[in-house]
Amino acid sequence: MGITQLEDQQLAGIVMWIPGGFVYVAAAAIAFLKWLGETEHHTRQPGLRRSAVLPALVASLTPLMLGGCGNSDPPPGTGFGDPAHGRAAILAFGCGSCHTIPGVLNARGLVGPPLDHFANRVYIAGMLRNNPENMVIWLRYPQTIVPGNAMPNMGLTERDARDIAAYLFTLD
Ligand code: HEC
Repeated sequence: MGITQLEDQQLAGIVMWIPGGFVYVAAAAIAFLKWLGETEHHTRQPGLRRSAVLPALVASLTPLMLGGCGNSDPPPGTGFGDPAHGRAAILAFGCGSCHTIPGVLNARGLVGPPLDHFANRVYIAGMLRNNPENMVIWLRYPQTIVPGNAMPNMGLTERDARDIAAYLFTLD
């Protein structure tokens, strides 16, 4: 249709985001008006005009909605995960008993391959193209990718795997 894939995605994002946002505003407005009606009933405050409430509410919520307008998906490698937490997770999961990993205390294992220069490697385990998304898959499910290899599925969460991947990608 004459637009790039990226533009198409951005368009889809806008289309989904706008109605989604208004549903929340409408729901909040209705709940607020209901609540206001109840308190008005009890206290009979003449000063508060209902007609003034909705525009005020929308005006106060709009900046909140627009706050989500920026590109919230950081590019892989930078905002992909938290490398500092990843390094701590590598230590906690004991990856260093099998791997030699620069910058990680006592990570001098020789069971698996050394994990130095991982930012520049082409493949993960000779099977997956090396990128952060594939690294998360490998770290969580090595036995699915290479059944029977010596690296166990260790029950990493998506978050742990993303952080560890982020750390490995600092190794160039
Ligand atoms: C029990 C030993 C063991 C443990 C524990 C282990 N691994 Fe591995 N790992 C291996 C082996 C063996 C391979 C090689 C698998 C293959 O190539 O089929 C490997 C492969 C890898 C690779 C791909 C290496 C390459 O050169 O392509 C990465 C990355 C990796 N492991 C990271 C980790 C991380 C991070 C942890 C901790 C969460 C971990 N491993 C825990 C044994 C282990």
